[in-house]
Amino acid sequence: MKTVTLIKGDGIGPEISDAVIKIINASGAVIDWDIQTAGADVIEEEGTPLPDRVIESVKRNKAALKSPVTTPIGKGFRSVNVQLRKELDLYANLRPCYNLPNVKTRYDKVDIVVVRENTEDLYAGIERQVDEDTAESIKRITRGASERIAKFAFDYAVNNNRKEVCVVTKANICKLSDGLFLESARKIASIYPQIKFREILVDNCCMQLVQNPNQFDVLLLPNLYGDIVSDLCAGLVGGLGIAQGANIGEDYAVFEPVHGSAPDIAGKDTANPTAILMSAIEMLNYIGEVEAAKKIKLALFETLNAGIKTADLGGNARCSEFTEAIIKRLNVLVK
Ligand code: NAI
Repeated sequence: MKTVTLIKGDGIGPEISDAVIKIINASGAVIDWDIQTAGADVIEEEGTPLPDRVIESVKRNKAALKSPVTTPIGKGFRSVNVQLRKELDLYANLRPCYNLPNVKTRYDKVDIVVVRENTEDLYAGIERQVDEDTAESIKRITRGASERIAKFAFDYAVNNNRKEVCVVTKANICKLSDGLFLESARKIASIYPQIKFREILVDNCCMQLVQNPNQFDVLLLPNLYGDIVSDLCAGLVGGLGIAQGANIGEDYAVFEPVHGSAPDIAGKDTANPTAILMSAIEMLNYIGEVEAAKKIKLALFETLNAGIKTADLGGNARCSEFTEAIIKRLNVLVK
């Protein structure tokens, strides 16, 4: 039996993680969940939204499934997500975006993988108040981190039968920082002649994505552009309710949906658990539960094909009904 850390988060976090636990239980995979709390709810008791016990748990188990955690705006604590990625050196943020069956979107056959650098750029947290009316944030880009993420993107392309890696920057304006990211990508690209290499500026990339997304394959971006562009890509294939993600390092991986804690719909049983379920499928593949992962994906696709969908996808199934529909199909597949 494998032990996996589960961070249930807050907002819609607990309801969607409960849905996933039920589905995985029905898939034949046997997982011992090491449940950890984090976020605003634990600050009062433990003095921090990310206690050491959470980090220790992921280090022990190597893999985690994480639900969204609310980040209070303008308060003193750093985002749990940013901190977790930093503490565990989860340098690669991987967000595959492709059309799901029976989820109607503007474009068909979108199949883009966003590879986002996860540890530096404006997320390094180097900010200062210069005076009452002026604040500064430092955009930090290093050669080491840039080459490491470029290598990750090219290795991903090779291992997943992808044809092209496109690096996205604003190197015409941020000449030094984005310039270094671009230079690093060019250097790594030269080691992978079998993969096509393309360069694009981030503003043009956004326009091209909404006009003709099928031209893109693997996108490689620094942290901030990666954050924004990956949400754009999620929108192309059906929105945040289905967008999966993974944070991967040399030793550990944390799988989580792209979306946040959605306080506007928390506790209403209307959240779509697909994004966290798709993230959990990748987690199962990561820990070697490949058969269970396949079956869950099939059951999810059959459920969507049967027209059972949550409100964000234009359906009327509640989160619990959608979950039960997947389990019903899994019960047949697992027999
Ligand atoms: P959000 O992603 O929580 O919500 C944006 C919109 O999408 C809302 O209308 C919400 O109802 C909808 N939505 C999100 N997930 C959905 C789902 N599974 N099913 C159906 N509808 C869904 O973004 P927002 O409102 O900007 O952030 C809320 C909180 O979440 C903030 O505190 C933010 O810092 C935090 N957050 C946490 C993340 C994480 O833990 N990885 C990632 C992004 C935001």
